[in-house]
Amino acid sequence: MKFPYTLFTLFITLSSFCVAQDQSISSPHIEKQLNMLLSKMTLKEKVGQTCQITLDVLLLRDSSGTVIEPIRVDPKKVDEAIIQYGVGSVLNVGWHSLGLDDWAHVMETVHGVYKNKKSKTPIIYGIDAIHGVNYTVGATLFPQEIGLAATWNPKLAKQFGEVTAYETRASGIHWNFSPVLDLGRQPLWSRHFETLGEDPYLASEMGKAIICGYQGRKGVDSEHVAACMKHFVGYSNPKSGRDRTPAWIPEKYMQELYLPTFKAAVQEGALTVMINSGVLNGIPGHANYHLLTEVLKEEWGFEGFAVSDWEDFLMLNTIHRTAETTKDGIIQAINAGLDMSMVPNSPQYQEYCTLMIEAVSEGSISNERLDDAVRRILRVKLILGLYEKNLNQAKSYPKFGSEAHQKTALNSALESITLLKNENILPLKKGQKILISGPTSNDLIFLNGAWSHTWQGGISEFNTVGRKSIREEIERMAGKENCLFSQGAELYLNETFEESRIVDSEDFKTKAEQSDVIILCLGEYPSTEKPGDIRSLNLNPEQIELAKLAQATGKPVVLILVEGRPRIIREVVEKSSAIVQAYLPGDFGAEALGKLLYGEENFSGKLPYSYPRYDGQIEFYDHPRSVDRDNSNEFKGYDPQWDFGYGMSYTDFEYSDIRLSNNEMNEGDSIVVMVDVTNIGKEDGKEVVQMYISDHFASSVIPTGKSLKAFKKINLSKGMKKTVSFVITKKDLFFIDSKGEWIIEQGTFSVNIGNQIKTFKLN
Ligand code: BGC
Repeated sequence: MKFPYTLFTLFITLSSFCVAQDQSISSPHIEKQLNMLLSKMTLKEKVGQTCQITLDVLLLRDSSGTVIEPIRVDPKKVDEAIIQYGVGSVLNVGWHSLGLDDWAHVMETVHGVYKNKKSKTPIIYGIDAIHGVNYTVGATLFPQEIGLAATWNPKLAKQFGEVTAYETRASGIHWNFSPVLDLGRQPLWSRHFETLGEDPYLASEMGKAIICGYQGRKGVDSEHVAACMKHFVGYSNPKSGRDRTPAWIPEKYMQELYLPTFKAAVQEGALTVMINSGVLNGIPGHANYHLLTEVLKEEWGFEGFAVSDWEDFLMLNTIHRTAETTKDGIIQAINAGLDMSMVPNSPQYQEYCTLMIEAVSEGSISNERLDDAVRRILRVKLILGLYEKNLNQAKSYPKFGSEAHQKTALNSALESITLLKNENILPLKKGQKILISGPTSNDLIFLNGAWSHTWQGGISEFNTVGRKSIREEIERMAGKENCLFSQGAELYLNETFEESRIVDSEDFKTKAEQSDVIILCLGEYPSTEKPGDIRSLNLNPEQIELAKLAQATGKPVVLILVEGRPRIIREVVEKSSAIVQAYLPGDFGAEALGKLLYGEENFSGKLPYSYPRYDGQIEFYDHPRSVDRDNSNEFKGYDPQWDFGYGMSYTDFEYSDIRLSNNEMNEGDSIVVMVDVTNIGKEDGKEVVQMYISDHFASSVIPTGKSLKAFKKINLSKGMKKTVSFVITKKDLFFIDSKGEWIIEQGTFSVNIGNQIKTFKLN
């Protein structure tokens, strides 16, 4: 028997985190205001609202065209863009971060136009504050999203959102282009670190929590910002692995894997969305009427607005070739359901506005579509309070960069860093002689990665003052007299491709001889988007060579991975005494790592992805049985270095006595599953209790192997036992059948927590 789709929708709706569900983001009062505002707008003003330019367009430049530092907004350019063309939005460009004073100047000028009644509509300013307000000097920088996902702690994700929103508002900004909700299922992709990992449930829970933190529980007040769901949808799985190249994702997997994070975010009340700059199943993201209009807006009821990614109406013409002219590109995108175009330069924006006016005047874009787009944009502006003339000017933000905020960032790093191997070498002992080495050991840029002070994040001079590299922190913890340093190898960019080279191996060997332990920091050069494209997932050969050199000394090697993607390290796993995945842990990463390595804190991070062993064998934990055929090495397709959800601790947890409230599920039933978890080790610790369900047989399509359906992160002091319970409902058993419909089938299911397993029957 099949159960209907509506049941599934109902269950999804009830599983909310922050806002009351099925509640419109708007109100009758706002809609009334919108009617009034729209009725007074000219075509030109409406078109201007759909146009977004960069801050660069507005800045004063010298006679050679270079932006003058410290930056100053050019009133003439503001007049042209905001008053003459009625441009509705400005976005940040990432050349470097600004101090709060600079931000105050920018915001004062940009918003001044509306305040001084020179324009009827306020500007909405957007920024990529993706791991803290990474473009404001002194802001609190957190782990990148992949690290946040590794905490498996939605409370921390919410706190991250709150701190970031607060500090974004302290910078005078109301709109954050975050979170990325694309699923991390293509580890070659340069933006893997911006995702919340490979699992739709984990990513949905963490994504909702971030959005709740950004937008606030009771609506966007002076300490919150509008979130932007990125990048709707399918961007993260380019077949080639290279950024902004085509993805092929069959409908079944769109529904089961790639759409749920966005749907959950819409239900969470996310106010804006940014569109996939790539191509999905042969259709450019920006030309996909079905996804943008039919799914996102009509089926899911999204009432906010959709902004394009960088120059994407142009790309429809120049790259994707679905539009013969620039104007056709604009028409295609707006008619597909795009509301605002990230244009973003000059004189492009003047051309955009002119072409858009022509397109509406000649009927290629209907007045209704234009009005709908403008209504959505103004709705968000009203919700954000941008029409209020004082714009919270009087409010100061004393908690900006405060100790309390820093502590939250430190906690996030502590709970994210993941212990993958430990052969009795960690925790390190005080007094041991340490050789610190490796390309990512000696500069904070490696801990932050891209989107840190600059777009690509590779410039050390912008590092946050007072925050430490791994080398500095280990030297502080171990005592400088106990530490030696040898670079060993370095990472650099050859054109845009990352490469590495060995540096003074003799120095390395000599210092290794004099040490008790080698801390070897490997990983990746900061990068994102096209500059982050790589040709192989294998870690660069010279880094592997350095690890082998270290291992050949006979000294214990603690491998620290500072990387946005899981790079293949198979050859050096066995002989490493310990391996720690740090991801990109942010400004407090070194401090967290030091505390963990020396046992002042316990590890509790768990991998949010399957860590591949071979670059030719990328599979995911929820693979169907046919991926493995059987469990022999020869036929095993899922053979990761480490499994999704894996991570060690300094203590041990024992799972026992799994029990179900019922072994059968009938119409309308739910089953409570309970399991005991005991800390049987010698340290206090935190454990992520993960519940997976698998369907034994499905007749319409093959069943997935197992899927994560719930998790809880618990604190357990040594010797303590806790009973953890989860509820299984029918929603956990649905899948997409061969006709593309959500169904469930009767039969036997397994529920699996830790090493505990039970089966139940669905009647
Ligand atoms: C990226 C977006 C980002 C935008 C604005 C684009 O190139 O794909 O993720 O929000 O730039 O900086």
